[in-house]
Amino acid sequence: MSRNKRHMLSETDFERFRQLVKGASGIFFDRDKIEVLGAGLAERANEVGAGDLDEYYGLVSSRESREELNRLLAHLSVQETQFFRNSPQFDALRQYIIPEIARRKTGGERVMRFWCAGCSTGQEPYSVAMSVLDVLPEPESWNIQILGTDLNEDALAEASRGWYPERKFAGVDRLHLDRYFHAAGGGYTIDESVRNLVRFERLNLVDDPLPVSSFGVCDAVFCRNVIIYFTHETAKIVIEHFYDIMSPGAYLFLGHSETLWRMSSKYALVEIGDAFIYRKPLPLSVGGRRFLPDRRLRSTGPSSGSSDERRSSRADRRSRSGERSDPRVKTGVNKQKPLTDDALSPREAAGSARIQLDRGKYELAIRCLERGLAANGADPELYFVLGLVHEKMNEPEAAAEDFRRALYFDPDLGIARFHLASVFEQNGKIKSAVREYRNAKRSFKENLPGLLEAELEAFDADSLMNLCEWKIENLTGLES
Ligand SMILES: C[S@@+](CC[C@H](N)C(=O)[O-])C[C@H]1O[C@@H](n2cnc3c(N)ncnc32)[C@H](O)[C@@H]1O
Repeated sequence: MSRNKRHMLSETDFERFRQLVKGASGIFFDRDKIEVLGAGLAERANEVGAGDLDEYYGLVSSRESREELNRLLAHLSVQETQFFRNSPQFDALRQYIIPEIARRKTGGERVMRFWCAGCSTGQEPYSVAMSVLDVLPEPESWNIQILGTDLNEDALAEASRGWYPERKFAGVDRLHLDRYFHAAGGGYTIDESVRNLVRFERLNLVDDPLPVSSFGVCDAVFCRNVIIYFTHETAKIVIEHFYDIMSPGAYLFLGHSETLWRMSSKYALVEIGDAFIYRKPLPLSVGGRRFLPDRRLRSTGPSSGSSDERRSSRADRRSRSGERSDPRVKTGVNKQKPLTDDALSPREAAGSARIQLDRGKYELAIRCLERGLAANGADPELYFVLGLVHEKMNEPEAAAEDFRRALYFDPDLGIARFHLASVFEQNGKIKSAVREYRNAKRSFKENLPGLLEAELEAFDADSLMNLCEWKIENLTGLES
């Protein structure tokens, strides 16, 4: 095939090849990537000596020739990766997650399993291994298993080699370089202590069974910068599958521009330091730490909790205003059932709380909301109004937590996203603010039922959308 024709993909070729690639890997080429697909196809067709794309299609789509299909998928997928990519997530892994898993397993089987799905050339699983060795006391007394999988066999071969040229070490500090690498041939080889914790396997996330039998349930799954190339439907299926291989309380790491919003509501979103990580909920109380309840359990009736789990509403407020057992970990739901026997219906409670809020009677507003929560601890509007109260009380952390709780129960509540963004903005978390303004804008744009009646009196969806746009424009570029 002549090279000068390589970018000219006919409509028919574009459609049949992109469907083939999507079906085999989940990777989806938008129309604006037509040239990228065209270039990739021409290169592979030239490589195998196909006369034209018809001939190449015949070859690559034949059942016998999985090999060329795999080559094509490897050729078309983005391999970019680096050591300790997204450092806030690795800070969270070291400072909180590994110690938390170890604590939870005290007295049980000393096994930790991490799966890096779509690991490319291996920097991600090796970074996980180094993090474990960094912080786990007596790692030799644990069975640490880290599995790196990818559909690209060339990338996996590079990963198994464990040697990388010097230019790939931008994200590695001197301490880690000295501790875990040996200089060799213009680059560095990974030390055996790290390499021994990691194994690599070819696994296509849309085609192959989960590695349950060969690997077992995982304490954390990393699938970062992979589903971003999939269609929404494919990503949704993959994410649902992860749930089945994760132990209760296990963590799911996604890339920083990936979200489960409108994809899965099974996971809880937790903020640890500057990182957002998803989590498979634990049963309500494990090891003294309480987590997001599984909504399926909730639908069978709210857990009443044992008496020693209940605390006074004052203590509840104190914990919301920052006196937590572990200030780095913020989960998304009010776990305590307030000690009130005079419950109000959620609508009455929200209405009364708004009146008290307008009067500046914040304590009274909170009392009303607690009474509403006693009737329905899963009502998003109550958490939203609680967030407004905490905003007025100048308690941004508590407010952010309340808005997150509201969003946990109703992810389409655009107005809660908008307020969450505003809290981030006021506290200098510009990157998070921009992200949430974008999410809020999307929610208003799609005209989701994201506005509560009371807000509609003051704003319409269009004005809020414009406001989000204006905020995004003004804040973009200020993120450090
Ligand atoms: C951009 S890299 C991400 C690497 C690493 N997770 C990170 O964040 O640094 C995306 C990887 O996903 C892999 N990938 C894409 N589709 C896949 C699929 N269906 N199954 C397994 N791996 C896939 C690609 O081969 C590529 O190595």
